[in-house]
Amino acid sequence: MAKSIVVLISGRGSNMEAIVEACAREGWDARVSAVISNRADAAGLAYAAARGIATAVVDHRAFASREAFDAALARAIDAHAPDLLLLAGFMRILTPGFVQRYEGRLLNIHPSLLPLFPGLHTHRRALDAGCKAAGATVHFVTAELDHGPIVAQAVVPVLAGDDEDALGARVLAREHVLYPLAVRWFVQDALRIEGGVVRQLTGEAQLLL
Ligand code: GAR
Repeated sequence: MAKSIVVLISGRGSNMEAIVEACAREGWDARVSAVISNRADAAGLAYAAARGIATAVVDHRAFASREAFDAALARAIDAHAPDLLLLAGFMRILTPGFVQRYEGRLLNIHPSLLPLFPGLHTHRRALDAGCKAAGATVHFVTAELDHGPIVAQAVVPVLAGDDEDALGARVLAREHVLYPLAVRWFVQDALRIEGGVVRQLTGEAQLLL
């Protein structure tokens, strides 16, 4: 049966778009059944609605605690019986209970070469550190922020004269290739976590250069 994918966003949603489009173009045995945001003004919601995808907003400001927000979020998610839950620019810290509920079927994309630069302002921190390479990581989500078994990484050069925006744009363009690739592997049941390390069975490289 086609796998149900639910995507959580907080803003632009360009990674969500890349996944919706790859799913259609490549004919995955899956469908994006809902896009859910913690912000009503997230631009990605309009894109999803225009594609006939169910949308929902669960505004974190309406809840007194992270636990209460996560419980409401889980109810909205579970209405779509997800086989796979994707964080795509979802800028909320999730409770351990929430992460545990979706363990093994919860992926995130982060704009750095993890374990370098978890958290915010990754491109500025890479520039400040004088890094010669930067990139993005897709990983299974664990209770620790921006950690968890790495599914795939994309590397880009840091070029002389780069500022945060230029480097961020170079990384984002690769995110749009990387995240759909990792999601397709999940849909194909091609991912195995062994001792905290992700192996995938299609023979494709888990590193995009
Ligand atoms: C992406 O660069 C993603 O890697 C990053 O937010 C951006 C969302 O863009 N995620 C994080 O920083 C999570 N820690 P998008 O809304 O256009 O996909």
